[in-house]
Amino acid sequence: MINTFQPSQSAIAPLAQLITGTTCHTPEHVVGNTPVLWVPEISTGEGRGFWAKLEGANPGGIKDRPALYIVERARERGDLLPGAPIVESTSGTFGLGLALAGIVHGHPVTLVGDPGMEPLIRRLLSAYGARVDLVAEPHPAGGWQQARRDRVRRLLREQPGGYCPDQYTNPDNVAAYAGLATELAGQLGRIDVLVCSVGTGGHSAGVYRALRRFYPELRLVGVDTVGSTIFGQPARPRLMRGLGSSIYPRNVAYDAFSEVHWVAPAEAVWACRRLAGLRYATGGWSVGAVALVASWLARTQPSHTRIAAVFPDGPHRYFDTVFNDDYCAAHDLLTGPPATEPDEIAHPAEREPTRWTRCTTVPIPATALRNAPADTPDGPLGGPSDDPSGGPLGGSLGGPLGGEGVPR
Ligand SMILES: Cc1ncc(COP(=O)(O)O)c(C=O)c1O
Repeated sequence: MINTFQPSQSAIAPLAQLITGTTCHTPEHVVGNTPVLWVPEISTGEGRGFWAKLEGANPGGIKDRPALYIVERARERGDLLPGAPIVESTSGTFGLGLALAGIVHGHPVTLVGDPGMEPLIRRLLSAYGARVDLVAEPHPAGGWQQARRDRVRRLLREQPGGYCPDQYTNPDNVAAYAGLATELAGQLGRIDVLVCSVGTGGHSAGVYRALRRFYPELRLVGVDTVGSTIFGQPARPRLMRGLGSSIYPRNVAYDAFSEVHWVAPAEAVWACRRLAGLRYATGGWSVGAVALVASWLARTQPSHTRIAAVFPDGPHRYFDTVFNDDYCAAHDLLTGPPATEPDEIAHPAEREPTRWTRCTTVPIPATALRNAPADTPDGPLGGPSDDPSGGPLGGSLGGPLGGEGVPR
């Protein structure tokens, strides 16, 4: 039967009144312009709160931005030739971004992960045409990250013309976030405190640096996981992925942080689940940890303080970890609400945090300094303690020049 329904004239809005989303002819244009959501302080669900920048609204997550930016700059500089392979180490999110960049710009992509890479991510990466190569054993000193980086070196030797974006050291991984910062400034008008998780250090450094041009008094609060080396703790096996590291990424802007918090997995799980029920917008380990810290700041800072927190991705990847009762019970992660206050230490060397802990002294870890290449006085920190070469992976690396293009 032919449907003869005709909308009445009055049901059709005049064209000028129609509101639409963005129309994208190519996938890279879907990246960026993510929303911010008001999140009330999560322990009570009311009162003061913070603004969450929902980077999970990007097709792959926050790392779509640096992946596209790094690849575009490398192509412009001639470091990445047309059709040449891209090889990178990733825990997942950056891999999704590189798979997108590979499709957009026509490069084969190989991603080196470890057994902790979630099956969902592995399968998605394969569907997006990337080759996933998993290392089987952690490096004895540098952990899984170093094992992955060693494998990347080997693959680059085997693939002439191969390019490694090297998100840990590439300054374009910082420059890429100027767009996110501009969006935040436009959305919020004024920002007093920025709360970011730290893995490679890219988004905390990049968003902070760009926002400081608008707000010179801006404070940056870093969020790391217990068992991470970034802010001077010993490397331990870690459940939380995305944030944290077992090496010293050069992109971490130590001098930018006014304080750092370490969060334990059970505390992040509680925050993720609480966020889900409270605001629908939730995510994984880094989102939970950031929300816990941003909520505490909202409770304890003067009431006019405007807090922006970056939520790097959404919840789906964590359906079998953070949101899986069996997994959480097996790892003793269902221990109820965290303490209302963090533990405090005066210096990262005072003691090793095992629960949510705050420190307002943020020095560059001595081990990281010892590994800094001599010709790079202002920051490059090199690799882990057993890797005095400090980083160059062989093949063609992400260049040190920073970018000229327009970050998303
Ligand atoms: C989910 C997630 N959260 C947080 C981070 C940390 O971000 P950055 O590497 O910019 O410090 C990452 C990095 O891979 C991530 O994948």
